[in-house]
Parts: sequence; structure tokens; C-alpha cells
Amino acid sequence: MKVTVVGAGAVGATCADNIARKELCDELVMLDIKEGVTEGKAIDMMQSSVWLGSDTRITGSTNDYTKTAGSDLVVVTSGIPRKPGMSREELVGINSNIVKDVTKKILEQSPDAIFIIISNPMDSMAYLTLKANGLPKHRVIGMGGALDSSRFRYYLSQALHCSSHDLNADVIGGHGDTTMIPLTRLATYNSIPVSEILEPAALDKVAADTRVGGATLTKLIGTSAWYAPGAACAMIAESVLRDEKKMIPCSVYLEGEYGQKDICLGVPVVLGRKGWESIYQLKLDDAEKDAFAKSAEKVRSVNASLKF
Ligand code: 2OP
Repeated sequence: MKVTVVGAGAVGATCADNIARKELCDELVMLDIKEGVTEGKAIDMMQSSVWLGSDTRITGSTNDYTKTAGSDLVVVTSGIPRKPGMSREELVGINSNIVKDVTKKILEQSPDAIFIIISNPMDSMAYLTLKANGLPKHRVIGMGGALDSSRFRYYLSQALHCSSHDLNADVIGGHGDTTMIPLTRLATYNSIPVSEILEPAALDKVAADTRVGGATLTKLIGTSAWYAPGAACAMIAESVLRDEKKMIPCSVYLEGEYGQKDICLGVPVVLGRKGWESIYQLKLDDAEKDAFAKSAEKVRSVNASLKF
């Protein structure tokens, strides 16, 4: 298997390092426009494997797409990250041109590639990748809900003073501070609904903290986070490349599911070797349905500015 990661900034390099360490592929190429950065980071990662043990062959490419030829899976992180105080949606102008250019060039070398889209605003970049290239919908997976769900589980574990590994808690809808929907009603601690343990005010605070989880870190660090995005990406890549059929909230193209059409939004999907293979239709209550419709409306307003 061959994986390409486009964009070797903090998020892209962390995605690449995680995928290589888990040996999800035989060969991994990092591509970026910055001279030497991918080549240097690839050698550094290969040297780390001397002690860490993975045998994935990692190479770098400064803007030479021929080196990405024959990739089975391509992770797109290229574009600018947000600065403190910015929304992800504000990046649409610059990043949509970059993502359109990158995905077209990737497909010239790897016509059958499955895409994991991370560049923001992610739901719109996933939609753009699908539409601009006329791809089959199953081959475009937007990584947002997996990341937001990790933050949701982190904040729940802090409130419950428990291990985040004992929690099942998902976020659906858009990958935006005002569009994501932490499903507090359905979250469980082992098999116990967390709503039976936490007071409503505490649960509301967990949901609020989750929604701005990315912005909180951007304010602290000065740029977008990378460890949790990189981990979420590797988990999705693992389910695809190993055909694990994990069910994970990802931004995928809807054709009527959850009452929405012609949009990419976060919903529970089964991930396997063909990309996302099926959508699970949760039984949402009226408040959740309303929140999902409002989320779709906001994502659609960003999509309206896209040029294919
Ligand atoms: C985040 O929320 C980069 O959108 C990503 O950290």
C-alpha cells in the first residue's frame, strides 16, 4: 500500500508519522511546496524508526507529484491553518484554490486514490474535492467528527474523572465552532448514559468546551492543533487500509440521509477498503434534528462561495 500526505506542516507531518509508525502502508510520501522540508522530515522520521521499529519507507517530495504516483490513500492537509480568533470558515478563499489544485494533480498520478480531507473549512473542502474532480462519493472522507469526538471524550473524561477509553461519545454535523453537534444524549460511560451521571449544566459545559476545542488550543498555541488531528487521521487511515469497518463520524456526501442532499457533513459511517461504505442513520430527537439542519445551513452558505 502507498500513502501520500500533502502538506508537511505540523498536522501533515504528524499524520505521516502516525501512519508510518503503525505500519499502515509499505510506502509513504510527504509532499509540500516548501523546498527541502518534506525530504528533511522524511529522513528524520526514518531515523526515528531505528529505535521505534517501523519499516515503512518514508520519502519527501518538493512539489513533484510524480513521486506520489499509485497512491491508495491521500491525506490532504495543505492550505493555511487558522490564527487565534479566526473561524475555520474564514480560510475558504485561500484554501479552496489550494485544495482544488492539489487534488487535481494527485489524481493525475493516482486516479483511484481515496482521500482523507483535513484542510479547513473541512466540510467545504471535502465537498469541493468531490465536485471539482467528479469523484465517486465513497472516496472522499472528511476528517472532522473523529477529531471533535476525541475532544468530546476528553472533556467528558475530565468531568467524570474517568478514562476517555471507557467513553463512547460522538460529534456529528459540521466541523465548525458553531456547526458541530456533540451528541450528549447518546454518550455513554461503558454502558451507562452519561446524562444519568452528570448534571445537565455540567454536560452542557462539556458540549460547549468541545465545540471550541480547536479554537481553545489555537489561542494557547498560536496555531492549529496537530497531535489530535494526526491521531484521528491515522485511525481513519487504519480502518480504510486494513478494511476494519470501524464506525466513525466523518464528513461525507449526503443524498437525503439526515434530511440533507448535495452537501458533505459529519455523520456516523463505516470505513473500509473502498473508503466510506455506509451511513448509519441515528434516531435523532427533535432538538438534534433542528441542530443538524442549522449546521447544514451554515455549511451550505460556505459552499456557496466555492468555484469548481
Ligand atoms: C482542529 O480543529 C485543525 O480543524 C482542526 O484542530
